[in-house]
Amino acid sequence: MRFTGGELTCRKDWFDILKYAKSLGFSVSCNTNAVFHDPKISELFSRLNLEQVTVSIDGCKENHEYNRGKGTYDTAVMNLKKMSALGVKLRVNTLVNNRSVNDAKSMLDLASQFAEEINFFTVVFWGRGADLEKTDGVALESHLEMSREIKKLKKEYPHIRILHFAEVSQKTAIREDESLKFGLKPGSPSGATTFNISSHGYYSCGGYAPYIDEELFLGNAQKENIFDVWQHNKKLEKMRNDSEKLIIFCNNCNKFKRGDCQGSKYETELIRLMNPEVKNSNCILGDGPSLLKLV
Ligand SMILES: C[S@@+](CC[C@H](N)C(=O)[O-])C[C@H]1O[C@@H](n2cnc3c(N)ncnc32)[C@H](O)[C@@H]1O
Repeated sequence: MRFTGGELTCRKDWFDILKYAKSLGFSVSCNTNAVFHDPKISELFSRLNLEQVTVSIDGCKENHEYNRGKGTYDTAVMNLKKMSALGVKLRVNTLVNNRSVNDAKSMLDLASQFAEEINFFTVVFWGRGADLEKTDGVALESHLEMSREIKKLKKEYPHIRILHFAEVSQKTAIREDESLKFGLKPGSPSGATTFNISSHGYYSCGGYAPYIDEELFLGNAQKENIFDVWQHNKKLEKMRNDSEKLIIFCNNCNKFKRGDCQGSKYETELIRLMNPEVKNSNCILGDGPSLLKLV
C-alpha cells in the first residue's frame, strides 16, 4: 500500500495512518518531497520501518528548484541523507524534463550513496503540468539518448537499482500471476496496474485517470466493496481492455520492437483523445491522433 499526495507529511496524522496500515499487515511505502524542517520527521520514518520511502529529486539543484521552488533542493538532500543514516530504505524519483535530460549521471552519483533505487520518468502534461509541454517537453530522440545512457551507466552503479520510463510501471504493476493466485482479475501493465483510494474514499486506477475525466472515478469505499469494483466495474473493464489493445499495438510496431520508441502509455493516449493538441513524445506516432482511435 503506497501513500502519496499532495504531501503526506503535511497531515498531522500521517504517522498514525501509516502505522495503522502496517499493523494490518500491509507492505507500506510512501512518496514525499522531503521538504520538512522538523528533524523528528526523519526519525518517525525510520521508526515505521517502511518497505520504501520515495524522495522526489528532479535533477541537479537548478533543475530541481525550477520544478519545486527555491530552497527545496538542499532540504530534500539533507533529509535524504538523514533518513539513509537512520536505515530508511529509500528510492529517489526523478521527474525528467528537457532541462534535466543530461542529469542522469549526477543523479546516480547522489542517489547511489543514499538510496537502494532510482526511478527516472517524464512529466505528464495534465493537471498542474498541463502547460508544461512547450517549455518542458522532451523530444523522442533525447528520450532515447537518455535511455541508452542510463542502460550504459547501470554497469557503473551496480549497488543501486535503476528504473527508467516504462520499467517502473512494470515493476510496480499488480502482476498477472499474482492476481490470478488471489482470484483477482489481472490488470495490464498500464492503465490498471494500481488501484487508488483518495483521502475521501474514491477509487480509481492508473496514476491520474480521474483527473483526465471525472467519469473515471470508480466508486467510493464508503459505499462499494473494493473487491467488487476491481472484479466487476464496467468502466475499469473497458480501461483494461483498451490498455491491453495499446500494448498489443506497440508490440506489433517495428519501431518499438527495434527500441527506436519508448512506447505509448494508456493515460497519455486518453489525454490525447480528449485534447488532440497534446503530443506523446515517448511515441513515434505521438504527433498524430490518439492511438486509442486506432486500436
Ligand atoms: C504528485 S507527487 C506527491 C508526493 C510528494 N509530495 C512528492 O513530491 O514526491 C508523486 C510523484 O508524482 C510526480 N509528479 C508530480 N507531477 C507530475 C507530473 N505532472 N507528471 C508526472 N509526474 C509527476 C512527482 O515527481 C512524484 O514523484
